[in-house]
Amino acid sequence: MKAVVVETFGEPSKAFKVKDIPIPFHDKPLEPSQVRIQVKSAAINPVDAKISRGLLASVLRKVRPPFVPGFDFAGIVEDTGSQVRLFSKGDAVFGRACLTQGSFAEYCIAEENDVHKMPSNVTFDQACCFPVVGLTAYCGLVQYGRIHRGERVLVVGGSGGVGSQAVPIAKLLGASFVGAVCSKRNVPFVKSIGADKVYDYEDTPIMDIVRDCKPDILLDTIGIDEYWDVACQCMSTKTGRFVCTLPPGGSSYEHALDWKSFLNISVAVTKRKLQHWTRRAPAYSIIITLEPAHLREISEWIEQDKLKVSIENIYSLDEVIQAMERLEKGRVVGKLVLKIQP
Ligand SMILES: NC(=O)c1ccc[n+]([C@@H]2O[C@H](COP(=O)([O-])OP(=O)(O)OC[C@H]3O[C@@H](n4cnc5c(N)ncnc54)[C@H](OP(=O)(O)O)[C@@H]3O)[C@@H](O)[C@H]2O)c1
Repeated sequence: MKAVVVETFGEPSKAFKVKDIPIPFHDKPLEPSQVRIQVKSAAINPVDAKISRGLLASVLRKVRPPFVPGFDFAGIVEDTGSQVRLFSKGDAVFGRACLTQGSFAEYCIAEENDVHKMPSNVTFDQACCFPVVGLTAYCGLVQYGRIHRGERVLVVGGSGGVGSQAVPIAKLLGASFVGAVCSKRNVPFVKSIGADKVYDYEDTPIMDIVRDCKPDILLDTIGIDEYWDVACQCMSTKTGRFVCTLPPGGSSYEHALDWKSFLNISVAVTKRKLQHWTRRAPAYSIIITLEPAHLREISEWIEQDKLKVSIENIYSLDEVIQAMERLEKGRVVGKLVLKIQP
């Protein structure tokens, strides 16, 4: 099969090679809970870039080159393990692939729990965009943010992959007001996805944004430390929740998560939690695990036309380096997709 292979950790032009390799598990049976999918489309996420650069090598010890990257997929079930009950050959599905037999290939492997029937009203290109960012937004608001109907939400990074799902999902979960932060050029887009008020961070100081929005939940998808400092001053230290997709200090495509940075992060996180326990700050959490079962709710909203995705560009598998370089510039509006098979 044709696949993107990370042959060595590094920047996209060094790491990615498009190669012909054997279909995963072509010569042995699948594990009982596994599904093999013929991938039609795969969406790109920042985590794919970070893993391929080796920045997470100290925590993901099983991931060593050569491997096929990519989590998000939409495609057709081609084979199932002996204990798989929910799917059979020919089903159109979407979900998250296994770590090293990823979706940037004509076939990928996924655990049954990470797969869901694809909504009938979307294309493969659209469906593949939802799993990682939809689950992050949903889990950030529900699991970590413990959102209640009628609450106010502020989404930092409203035009990005996670943010552009978090805005409509917060509304669907009953938020009474959803504010979102993005650059000036993306204000019309973020308004169009349902934000009640969009703050342009180029013109509006962070303090003014948080004071004006008065959020019960602040969902920071960018990892800007200043938001935490301002949240400590402006949000309720009893009921406010600050949820972040990234650790204190944010993340970049250059710095590896080594033991030293892990230690610094742990100290910073403990400090923030202590600030809350002593009632000097809102509750603080970083999104770490994503509960795959929530893909069911997301799928229902898609099927009912209540949740949509915006695709900035679709690339071929051969254009993977170009796509990844675009992602790493950090200004993608919505999602980038790799079209794997027509
Ligand atoms: N913990 C987890 O489980 C988890 C899950 C998913 C993602 N993440 C992480 O969360 C981060 C976001 O992911 P993503 O998929 O949404 O990335 P993305 O699509 O690349 O997000 C890019 C967005 O960041 C916005 N941005 C840049 N600077 C900003 C600023 N100062 N203020 C507000 N927005 C700003 C850009 O908007 P403008 O061009 O408008 O500035 C752009 O739309 C990534 O680092 C990713 O690794 C973590």
